Amino acid sequence: MRKQSSSNAVSGSAKSPAKPACLMEMEKREAHFRAQGFDSAAGIDFVLSKILPVSGQVLEIGSGKGRFLTALARRAPLARITSVDIDPAEQAVAAQNAAYQGVADRVQFAVRDAARLGWPGNSFDAVVTVNAMHHLPEPDRAIAEMVRMLRPGGKLAICDFDPATFYLMDLIQQAEGKTHPHPVRCFPRWQAQLRALGFKTLTWTACHQEILLALS
Ligand SMILES: C[S@@+](CC[C@H](N)C(=O)[O-])C[C@H]1O[C@@H](n2cnc3c(N)ncnc32)[C@H](O)[C@@H]1O
Repeated sequence: MRKQSSSNAVSGSAKSPAKPACLMEMEKREAHFRAQGFDSAAGIDFVLSKILPVSGQVLEIGSGKGRFLTALARRAPLARITSVDIDPAEQAVAAQNAAYQGVADRVQFAVRDAARLGWPGNSFDAVVTVNAMHHLPEPDRAIAEMVRMLRPGGKLAICDFDPATFYLMDLIQQAEGKTHPHPVRCFPRWQAQLRALGFKTLTWTACHQEILLALS
């Protein structure tokens, strides 16, 4: 947990630690997106409603700023989560988020490429990824790695924006003179591949999210 500075410490009070500036910035951005029709918290709640329970060793691909990671850690108190991202700066925000939300003791971070995780196989009871697949340069290789990481009997959850939300993101980012990755939709192919590997699969599309849950 972030220490209070002596200037804002209140002796004997239960005052919460000050929110880090990077999290205030993240919340401002989320509010902007919400005003444009994208409610990231609703999407995360929907994903959790479909993939929980998870427990044991859990691998998350794409820490980002830790929105999903912290929500998962709070809602899965028996999970110990390893979160991977290729960008240490994004992960530094996720680490502050985890500390601020009081879940840092059950989260560890690794800067790695999702397509080359490097750990031995069968290391995790669950593998999850939310809104990161469309950022990965080698998504198929990343899925092969996620499958390799999963223990027999484990749960794999691949979650990304649904088609309507990809178009909404295009519009929001275009209005700011930016572009957002919008790859061809791969969920049906990934589902077929996972079924061919012997997984039982379930899918949902709602609340901005497309979810593919694969049970081994
Ligand atoms: C939009 S963020 C993920 C959102 C995050 N799950 C959340 O809940 O806020 C996408 C992340 O994927 C990461 N990423 C991009 N390429 C990657 C790769 N090859 N391996 C691992 N992470 C990667 C980016 O650095 C970025 O932080």
